[in-house]
Amino acid sequence: MIGSSGDLKCRSEVQIALSMKICSSIAEGRAACRAARASGKRLGLVPTMGALHEGHLSLVRAARAQCDAVAVSIFVNPTQFGPKEDLAKYPRPFDRDCRLLEKEGVEILFAPAVEEIYPKSNSNAEGTWVVVEGLSEKLDGRSRPGHFRGVTTIVSKLFHILEPEAAFFGQKDAAQLAVIRRMVCDLNFAVEIVACPIVRESDGLAMSSRNAYLDGEERRHALVLQRSLQETRQRFQAGERTAARLIAAAMEVLARVPQVALDYFEMVDPETLDPVEQVSQATLVAVAAYVGSTRLIDNTVLNP
Ligand code: PAF
Repeated sequence: MIGSSGDLKCRSEVQIALSMKICSSIAEGRAACRAARASGKRLGLVPTMGALHEGHLSLVRAARAQCDAVAVSIFVNPTQFGPKEDLAKYPRPFDRDCRLLEKEGVEILFAPAVEEIYPKSNSNAEGTWVVVEGLSEKLDGRSRPGHFRGVTTIVSKLFHILEPEAAFFGQKDAAQLAVIRRMVCDLNFAVEIVACPIVRESDGLAMSSRNAYLDGEERRHALVLQRSLQETRQRFQAGERTAARLIAAAMEVLARVPQVALDYFEMVDPETLDPVEQVSQATLVAVAAYVGSTRLIDNTVLNP
């Protein structure tokens, strides 16, 4: 269980060693961020679930470039995991994460326990939720019911607690980005949402904390996701504009690796996530698949 006393002990040990301010309570996180803003600093927030990799660090660097102070949150949010998903085994290398953030010069780390964020209940049975209806059931939301409700609820909480001027999210989670943008617009949050490009391993695999679950063979199989997107891009560059034909070409590529079980391959409007028939404006091509028991996602955007 996250937020166990073992976890907290590890947090306080790290706090002694590092100069970055580590806040485990809402009051501390709020006060640290308010103090940064009160001294006239533009505050950037990078929300994460930890197990940091170069993708996360690229968000931190973007925040550093665009803001005067950077806050990062590490919180493995239980409400965005389905009952059969990987909440219990989600990696939590907290000490390592702290060191990486310290090296990047992050000023504030907000790392609350589950009970701090969800004191009444972390079950899905009751309470207040933030839901972007219409978008939350699309793409990943279709195969992970309740996932985006958990994401928008925790991101709203983080925005209320830390009140950043800007928040940085990876383009890899393109559907998440669309849902968060819509939430920010509909609920008038005074925060700028900044999308940062996908960071890839040297072989092209999109960086993800879940890549750590893959063994050598699965890792090789996983590369088909990116190859399917490249196929779409190449056909698009050669002049193909009909989504059905572009999708069919990608399906052929994916079918060559039967060990990879496709969840979806879709071409959609990046804002509404509605399927497109012809690529006449910027179009999100998104893929999700299971490699063994690991669910991976990737995407690219086609710009005519
Ligand atoms: O993208 C993630 O890591 C998570 O969904 C987020 C935005 C930190 C919310 O828990």
